[in-house]
Amino acid sequence: MTHLTVYPDTDPATVLLDTRDGAEIAASLFEIGVVFERWDAPHALGEDADQAAVLAAYEADVKRLMVEGGYKSVDVVRVKPDNPNRAEMRQKFLAEHTHDDDEVRFFVEGAGAFYLRKGGRVYRVVCERNDLISVPAGTTHWFDTGPAPHFCAIRIFTSPEGWVGHFTGDDIATRFPKFESEVA
Ligand code: LAC
Ligand code: NI
Repeated sequence: MTHLTVYPDTDPATVLLDTRDGAEIAASLFEIGVVFERWDAPHALGEDADQAAVLAAYEADVKRLMVEGGYKSVDVVRVKPDNPNRAEMRQKFLAEHTHDDDEVRFFVEGAGAFYLRKGGRVYRVVCERNDLISVPAGTTHWFDTGPAPHFCAIRIFTSPEGWVGHFTGDDIATRFPKFESEVA
């Protein structure tokens, strides 16, 4: 279930907010400039639906968001638990980073945890099916797939080149609860 936990960025043992309420999650993230929405799936998609089928299912919301945000391109990524690069992929996104473009992700299936660091706090958001998160350019964050990644996400970009990560070199991610603490 979608879950937001807010901590001081210096103290993962102190929980400032813990909620699974969609409206409360959206309101809390709005305060740091992050957009959170839930989109309804118009119909069930199979686990192996291809990019065209995924985009067709969410066409209206994707178009609306692209117009609102001035985005220019969109793609679909799917990662399964047996991905041979899963360990490397996990380590890469577990390192704190920023991007020059917004990071806009809609979860079609599966789940993952975003960690947003702003104003001396860490916002840990476990996203799942039907969750849209839009992280503004320049926001410090990291992402955890867990040890057995499973998700399909629509990614929306101003330009795919803007999505390159600038790593901060801070090891803060090692101190906060990992994705699997949620599902264990
Ligand atoms: C990214 C995430 C996972 O940069 O933070 O794609
Ligand atoms: Ni990122």
